[in-house]
Amino acid sequence: MGKSYNIAVIPGDGTGPEVVDEGLKVLERAALKHGFSFQFKHYPLGGEHYMKTGEILPENVIDELRTQDGIFLGAIGHPDVKPGILEKGLLLQLRFELDQYINLRPVKLYEGVGTPLKDKGPADIDFVVIRENSEGLYAGAGGILKRGTPDEVAVQESINTRKGVERCIRFAFEYCRKRNQKKKVTLCGKTNVLTYAFDLWERAFYEVAKEYPDIETDYAHVDATCMWMVKNPEWFDVIVTDNMFGDIITDLGAMIQGGMGIAAGGNLNPEGVSMFEPIGGSAPRYAGKQIINPLAAISSAQLLLEALGEEKAAADVEEAVKKVLKDDLKDVAAGKMGYTTAEVGSLVADYIKTG
Ligand code: IPM
Ligand code: MN
Repeated sequence: MGKSYNIAVIPGDGTGPEVVDEGLKVLERAALKHGFSFQFKHYPLGGEHYMKTGEILPENVIDELRTQDGIFLGAIGHPDVKPGILEKGLLLQLRFELDQYINLRPVKLYEGVGTPLKDKGPADIDFVVIRENSEGLYAGAGGILKRGTPDEVAVQESINTRKGVERCIRFAFEYCRKRNQKKKVTLCGKTNVLTYAFDLWERAFYEVAKEYPDIETDYAHVDATCMWMVKNPEWFDVIVTDNMFGDIITDLGAMIQGGMGIAAGGNLNPEGVSMFEPIGGSAPRYAGKQIINPLAAISSAQLLLEALGEEKAAADVEEAVKKVLKDDLKDVAAGKMGYTTAEVGSLVADYIKTG
């Protein structure tokens, strides 16, 4: 008997449940082939549950999640719930409570997938964004004074701790070494304007870099990073950045790798419980139609396998995803794949041959 992993599953809202089903299908197949197993426990959290019960993320659920080997999440966000309630109360709360201080977002263009970048191909678009995931502008520090009056004041502060910044930067260097490609880490910041926050980031970056003489360092302001991601994406290997900039540049990253349908992500606590999710939203207008692309969720499941140390199973999932993209899918966009959501999941699962 191989290992058994306890995984919490939060299908969530919109197209979340459909893509999660396909991720689970692929996880089961990979486990079968590699001699381990999963115990999945489903949690009905999300917009529907909130509207029915008023419950967003009960304390006892967080306590249960702390004991799991990982979390697999579909999507959070409901058109009938005011923006911010579920995002902050559920998604961000999970990231914070479980101290998932890294948001790992690979930007990789696979063969057969179209990119809007002219003259760029799979050899040019292959890097990883390491986004700080526990502080910065997302920490929720600030407030409003005299709301709704002419004297109104709104303050939103970016919190950057030496510990938080340093552990993120160190993770980026370690990841770069393990990835073993261009061996380059680029700090993405705004040292010319955010002269407090990025002073700390810059000092921590170059201090940590001294421990990694085998890795080249580079720096780019966030605006220039956007420019280079479009003009010369081949310059990047690992980008490390703060929470807000990381949020923004990874949507750009998703577009150059072919769109939200295939962009995967992981919220990592390298010492604790990590959570994996496709980075696109809940796409309510596509929900329940079996037209959404499940590959982002399936690639997130691949990241889950990597985090569990099931490297061979993870590699098999990636190979299968690549094959589907190269040989089967007509297009990566929702409704244009030439297959239903479930069919795409089955194609991937079937390429992971068993025995
Ligand atoms: C993401 C999303 C979230 C974020 C939202 C839904 C809170 O955009 O995962 O990138 O801003 O982090
Ligand atoms: Mn985002």
